[in-house]
Amino acid sequence: MKILGLESSCDDTACAVVEGGVQVLSNIVSSQDELHEQFGGVVPEVACRAHIQNVLPVIEEAMKQTNVRWNDIEAVAATRRPGLIGALLICLTAAKSVSWALDVPLLAVNHLDAHIYGGWMGEDEPELPAVSMVVSGGHTSLYHTRGPLDHELLGSTVDDAAGEAFDKVAKILHLGFPGGPVMERVAKEGNPEAFDLPRAMMDGKDINFSFSGLKTAVLYHAVGQNASMEDIQNASYTDKFVADMAASFQKAVVDVLVAKTRLAIEQVGAAGLIVGGGVAANSSLRERLSEMAEKVGVQVNLTPWPLCRDNAAMVAGLAHHMYEKGDFADLTVEATP
Ligand code: KG4
Ligand code: ZN
Repeated sequence: MKILGLESSCDDTACAVVEGGVQVLSNIVSSQDELHEQFGGVVPEVACRAHIQNVLPVIEEAMKQTNVRWNDIEAVAATRRPGLIGALLICLTAAKSVSWALDVPLLAVNHLDAHIYGGWMGEDEPELPAVSMVVSGGHTSLYHTRGPLDHELLGSTVDDAAGEAFDKVAKILHLGFPGGPVMERVAKEGNPEAFDLPRAMMDGKDINFSFSGLKTAVLYHAVGQNASMEDIQNASYTDKFVADMAASFQKAVVDVLVAKTRLAIEQVGAAGLIVGGGVAANSSLRERLSEMAEKVGVQVNLTPWPLCRDNAAMVAGLAHHMYEKGDFADLTVEATP
């Protein structure tokens, strides 16, 4: 079965055609990174306008790159929640229109479940039950997973998401937006032990996260206490300082993510580990999680690198399981933030 998927929950407009839940026939992402870079973060109003401009071209391109005809599309899926409300509406409305025009079922997908489903889109099926970690710009959460559509929340961040912390620290260090990929690149030149940064909430059995203190610690090292936006903009750093800070910050984030994931695996007695979301593209995190999984004896399914950041292939893939379950939406379904 071929499903057309659409995604516009934040700042990427995406369309994909996926067969049988795993075979990606096309996967088009129109990124707005350059548009938002001047603001140092995603501006919802700007994102919505760009989604409106990009939605039809990404659908046309996704269809053009396959040999699939419109009549071969058996269902249409779009992200319904969570995300920026205005942004979500654009692909959900487009999906409703296509499903109505083709007279095929509509599937309304949860974006976080779709990130976890990235674990099903690699070579091996995940071992279940699993602990799943979604680590992105908007979320940092651990789940007890019993199937592609069966996730119980175990813990999540009480303040900033890990990706958000990468983005904010990159802004302090004048590295541009989005922060994660450039921080990873710069960190390769730095010493991860150069700065002693905090690892929050590491005592006891709590599997929630906190990253805002870490971001503040970087700010104090870089610019000092009581720094204004102007002080941050006017600060100047040596290349060595930036590389050492990026490396120390990345190590602090990865240490916490790995430790909490291990705790969750031990608490639920998981047989597998699934990891998805934009920050799951980080190679240091991928290596450290794989080492830990081997040590504790669980199978690890990292989302394939090209599907970590927001995309519609994960949406169309998960929708296959919703279709099998009969979990259809009708044209009155609403986006929710
Ligand atoms: O999943 P995603 O594309 O969007 C959300 O659902 O939030 O994740 C975007 C986040 C951004 O914060 C970005 O800085 C981060 O993922 N990111 C990374 C890397 N690539 C993207 N963080 C660390 N290392 C990376 N290589
Ligand atoms: Zn996402």
